[in-house]
Amino acid sequence: MSVAASNSLDIVHLAGLLKAGKLVAFPTETVYGLGADATNSEAVLGIYEIKGRPRFNPLIVHCADLAMAEKLVEFSPLARRLARFWPGPLTLVLPKKSDARLSDLVTAGLDTVGVRVPAHPLALALIRAAGTPLAGPSANPSGKLSPTTAEQVRKAFHGLVPVLDGGPCTAGVESTILAVAGDAVTQLRAGALPRGEIEMAIGQPIAIASKNAAIAAPGMLASHYAPNARLRLDASAPRPGEAYLAFGPEPANPSGPLRNLSPSGDLREAARNLFSMLHELDALSDAIAVAPIPHSGLGEAINDRLKRAAAPRP
Ligand code: TXA
Ligand code: MG
Repeated sequence: MSVAASNSLDIVHLAGLLKAGKLVAFPTETVYGLGADATNSEAVLGIYEIKGRPRFNPLIVHCADLAMAEKLVEFSPLARRLARFWPGPLTLVLPKKSDARLSDLVTAGLDTVGVRVPAHPLALALIRAAGTPLAGPSANPSGKLSPTTAEQVRKAFHGLVPVLDGGPCTAGVESTILAVAGDAVTQLRAGALPRGEIEMAIGQPIAIASKNAAIAAPGMLASHYAPNARLRLDASAPRPGEAYLAFGPEPANPSGPLRNLSPSGDLREAARNLFSMLHELDALSDAIAVAPIPHSGLGEAINDRLKRAAAPRP
């Protein structure tokens, strides 16, 4: 998608709001982000407040290109190779530079920063026009489903946050997060870039962060990405009273609402539809049964989100 004329007017206006310390939601290839000037503590505080996000949970910093990221963090040779996936759905957690211009609220006091260059022309145009890296968590109240359309963002924040509308997100699940320390890589969150693909590119295995890892990351909390409805996973068919989220073949005569993540069993299509279909079924039913989804490739991220969405609520 090119940056159409109507959007470029939007972008100038919205970049002005960002420079003035306001929040602006923006599209990325993964999910919509809730952006603030990452150098402005007042603005960043606004993100934590409107999301109801615990202050110990650091934010991802969105950059327009590698050069912008290099002003904030140290790249080891391995980190540099991983950055070849940019623009793309990969967040690298790297050591913060001592002279990095960043609000301490962004990193929640850690000495690392999660950085990424999103693969969305409107996101890149907005960051460039604002002239500053943007702190940007997913644009949803903390713990709730992530938004993949502008409409979901408007609803989630009752129209209080202006949204740059880039249409539905193409990937549909959040970025893969890797912590890189020297030549060791650990996956902190499964995401839109499958681990196997990254391992192939760098020619080394990627460890998975243990559940008890020191990094407290709500994306890693047991209950997260939660709809209001109860979720029952690995369900081959719905029970009476349940909506059904299918993958591949559909049950013959479902009594409740039904959505299919991918009739042909394609994991890319399923990832793209995941949050939107959960949003839809959540509005229609108190209970959602979900078909089994393969764990390979993108299935790792999809199953991760479903497991957290189904976990007992705090
Ligand atoms: O695809 C995405 O990553 C989306 C789009 C908007 O870019 N963003 C997103 O942000 O999912 P958020 O805040 O919902 O999730 C960011 C995750 C959190 O779990 C946070 O704890 C972790 O990244 N994180 C950020 N900085 C970190 C750091 N320095 N060390 C460890 N984890 C970090
Ligand atoms: Mg999130």
